[in-house]
Amino acid sequence: MRAVARTARVRERLAKAKNVMVITGAGISAESGVPTFRDARGLWKEFNPLDYATHDAFERDPVRVWKWYDQRRVNMAQARPNPAHRALAAMQRPGRRVFIVTQNVDDLHEQAGSKEVVHIHGSLWRIRCERDGTVLENREAPLSELPPTCMCGEVMRPDIVWFGEELPRQPVERILHYLLEGGIDLCLVIGTEATFGYIVQWALQAREAGAMVVDVNPRDTGLGSIVDVHLRGKAGDVLPKLLQETEPEVS
Ligand code: APR
Repeated sequence: MRAVARTARVRERLAKAKNVMVITGAGISAESGVPTFRDARGLWKEFNPLDYATHDAFERDPVRVWKWYDQRRVNMAQARPNPAHRALAAMQRPGRRVFIVTQNVDDLHEQAGSKEVVHIHGSLWRIRCERDGTVLENREAPLSELPPTCMCGEVMRPDIVWFGEELPRQPVERILHYLLEGGIDLCLVIGTEATFGYIVQWALQAREAGAMVVDVNPRDTGLGSIVDVHLRGKAGDVLPKLLQETEPEVS
């Protein structure tokens, strides 16, 4: 099926959709100038995740880890939502729910106006104390104190899920509750390799709840055969096209 026909098929599904699930990864922020991880110029091509994104790395050298995250915060502070984030925000309307699950630690979805955004890997703008559980929002870029320390004296960590760590319980429960409610018309999986099994599992559960699963990515991903339609391209080009024609008001 040609790309135009595939886009038309998804646009028609969206026009009638009352409940859209979206799962995003680093690729949706790529056009905002935020590096991905596993692309040709991704972060993990330049940095070994074992030196920066594990608890052991932080225990070994918190200053080295914080310098790396601080540089990401400085870069992220310059980033703005791109047409892909804005298209998702524009999909929200009376009678249509758009529920976004993101692996991203930026807040570009929220900046674009998306209302329901669940972060499963934490936030670049939050820091956490492992001793007394303090969690603070901190948007200094660069940090005024590196590494940041808690009132209790402990060095604070990025409130980001590192390799080998559990996903945060509350966001996962929100996702499972949403999936159990069922009645999902469309599941857009955007800008992710779908490396992690839970991403594939949630897309599969959305499909079982009635969703057409659409992969928005310039290349094939780990989603494999659960994809109904692959819109091959950049999210910033593909997503606005789904909204292009005037849509019949959702009744
Ligand atoms: N539009 C859509 N997709 C894009 C674009 C774009 N403009 N640019 C790149 N992509 C795609 C790539 O083809 C790739 O499939 O985005 C995907 C990015 O994959 P990864 O770099 O692996 O990022 P992600 O899937 O979000 O990684 C998941 O892994 O390292 C951890 O915690 C980190 O949250 C991250 C998680």
